[in-house]
Order: sequence, then structure tokens, then C-alpha cells
Amino acid sequence: MMNYAAAQRNAAPILEALSQQVPRTASGHALEVSSGTGQHVALLARHYPALRWQPTELEPRLLLSIDQHTAGLTNVLAARRLDVAGDWAAQLPQLAAGSLRLLVNINMMHIAPWSCALGLLAGAGRSLAAGGVLVTYGPYAKDGTLSPQSNVVFDARLRAENKEWGVRDIRDLRQAAAPHGLKLHAEVDMPANNKLLVWKKC
Ligand SMILES: C[S@@+](CC[C@H](N)C(=O)[O-])C[C@H]1O[C@@H](n2cnc3c(N)ncnc32)[C@H](O)[C@@H]1O
Repeated sequence: MMNYAAAQRNAAPILEALSQQVPRTASGHALEVSSGTGQHVALLARHYPALRWQPTELEPRLLLSIDQHTAGLTNVLAARRLDVAGDWAAQLPQLAAGSLRLLVNINMMHIAPWSCALGLLAGAGRSLAAGGVLVTYGPYAKDGTLSPQSNVVFDARLRAENKEWGVRDIRDLRQAAAPHGLKLHAEVDMPANNKLLVWKKC
């Protein structure tokens, strides 16, 4: 079973912030994109017992770790591989359009090409039910400004490592989300200069 230190640190604050947006009694289907080690979905599933969770991840080597973290949780399905920038219907044929109450994506958008952010928004637009919620977590720029300096340095480091990576701007995300029926509903400041963005499907 793998563990990321960052996920260990941010899991509880994310749960706390999410609880202010989506009641713990919420029921139906939830999906996580880029579940990583599985630490987040394991915590969220324990605190949202009436949601049936589908973890997904690009890296096949992480699928086992996710399943180990969620072992014994009856409301979590076996992890499935999903390239968020690919065709969701082909990769997850069991995921019906308009079937999700909640979609979660933590710390992916800036460590992946822009096509992944676009894929996430398109997939969310297709698979969320009306009134369903997409939450995305990470560092974000706002209206062309990235702050504080530590996020500017982080962004430069990401772009040096991979020119397709980088901190995304909320303005660009709002524009990209609109054609998919997604509206930014809340922007919650989180520890370490991160934000939890709450998107609602109209
Ligand atoms: C920084 S890790 C975050 C993992 C986990 N969400 C967390 O917070 O611990 C970034 C994740 O994005 C995933 N990722 C990168 N490209 C992806 C893609 N095209 N589709 C789905 N996931 C992707 C990686 O495999 C990795 O698990």
C-alpha cells in the first residue's frame, strides 16, 4: 500500500471543506479521477457512506494501492484505469451519462497537460446528474495572477519539468467548463495556498 505525504496532510482539510458543500448524507454514485494511492477515496468513502465510490487512476501500478486502501469498505468499487483526457465512455462503459452525484479530482490539473483539465470538464459535464457537483483541489491562478510567490516558484518548477504542466487559471477553467453545463459555485481557500473549487452541473 502506497502513501503520499501530501495526501496525508490535505485529506482531512479536504473532507472538512467538502462537507460544507455536499452533505455527508448524500447518496448515489461518486467517482474520483486520478485517485493516486487511494488515500483520499478511502477517507471520503468512510465519511460519505451512502455514496457508492468508483476510484480511477491513469497509472496501472497505483490500482493495487487504491484497492488496498479501500479494502473492507463496502461502498467502494475496485479501482479502474481512466485516462481523463481519453474517451470516458470507452474506458468506463458502466458509467452512464447523468449518473453521478459527485466527482472528485485532487491535485491533478497542474501536474498534467491542459488536455486533462479539458477532459475532466467534458467528462464531468457528461456524467454528472443535474445539480451534481465536481470538486477540484490544488493551486490556482485567478484572473491572470498567481500568488503567493511560493506558488509562482512551484509553477515555474512544474513548467521546467514538463512544458505541458502548470498551474491553471480559474478564468480559463470557467470558460472551458461553461459549454459542458458546469458553473463555478464556490471557491474555498485551503491550507498551503491551495483552493477547493466547487462546480455545479446545471
Ligand atoms: C500529484 S498526483 C495526485 C494523486 C492524488 N489525487 C493525490 O492527491 O494524492 C497526480 C495524479 O494525476 C494522475 N494523472 C496524470 N495524468 C492523468 C491522466 N491523463 N488521466 C488520469 N489521471 C492522470 C497521475 O497518475 C497522478 O496519480
